Amino acid sequence: MTLTLNSPCDMHLHVRDGAMLANVAPISSAQFAAAVIMPNLLPPILNADDALAYKDRILAITGESFLPLMSLFFSPKLTLQEIRHAKNAGIRLTKLYPQGVTTNSAKGIREILCEENLQIFENLQNEGFILCIHSETNGFVLEREHDFLPILAEIARSFPRLTLVMEHISDARSLEVVQSFPNTFGTITLHHLLFTLDDLLGGALNPHVFCKPCVKLPRDMQALRDVAFSGNPKFCFGSDSAPHLRTHKECSQCGAGVFSAPVALSALAELFENHGALQSLSAFVCENAPKIYHFTPPQKAVQLRKARFDVAEEYGGVVSLFAGKSLSWILCD
Ligand code: DOR
Ligand code: ZN
Repeated sequence: MTLTLNSPCDMHLHVRDGAMLANVAPISSAQFAAAVIMPNLLPPILNADDALAYKDRILAITGESFLPLMSLFFSPKLTLQEIRHAKNAGIRLTKLYPQGVTTNSAKGIREILCEENLQIFENLQNEGFILCIHSETNGFVLEREHDFLPILAEIARSFPRLTLVMEHISDARSLEVVQSFPNTFGTITLHHLLFTLDDLLGGALNPHVFCKPCVKLPRDMQALRDVAFSGNPKFCFGSDSAPHLRTHKECSQCGAGVFSAPVALSALAELFENHGALQSLSAFVCENAPKIYHFTPPQKAVQLRKARFDVAEEYGGVVSLFAGKSLSWILCD
């Protein structure tokens, strides 16, 4: 049995830079036609010139059959001139990180709704940009995403022509808010569809499932599954695959991030199939994103075959989800 996915897209991907980029980018470009590339490098990608240079480094590894959709790290440096410069360079995405909420977000925003930012939101709206948001506060860990919802709603209401993407939704209560605004959409990861707090710390602590926002309760996972399995057009796949070296995961001060790129499509196919939802996989991973983000991915037919996929123990020093385990769908060459 085979399954063909036409131009699957990963709308939230960390590929880092240098040796790590060379290690992980081919893994994603083998499966996806396009991906939104996160800008939280050190230092972050703040402007179009840096984003274009980064894009070239990615394409040098993946080749042109993979479309990296570049995003700018939201900062006060995002002047109208810089926004227009980016637009002319084909960049239409910016990613807002509240300060300190996740890996490499020290240069993020302290006060989201300050006057200066409202002017930037206005400019982004006028120039047809998409604002992707890591929607968490610095509050109590299980309530961070929920606590952010009034801020998201305020932006959605004040800038009705600005497309907002709530990234890596983890809390059932966010789904209702996203669905209540015509200009708001969401990405959902594989790990938030698969895991709860039990998988992270119910038994021995599993650092490879530690991420931001953290995985939550069974009812949150179930609500995320319900929207993904229904092919709901407000939501699309964004893996948030985030490689950290094993030495930075299996230690104290473990970094937040789940490396899921090697298993992304195989594990999605298995999950959707196990829940009788295989017919909605294409909406979730192929069709919804181009409609939400208004872009055309390169034509790429990706085939999966129903056969045992033994996941490697390590990919260049990085431990993947399901490392050393086997999945039931494998990518065809
Ligand atoms: O778990 C995460 N890791 N969440 C993020 O938002 C960032 C990412 C990373 O860059 O490692
Ligand atoms: Zn991310």
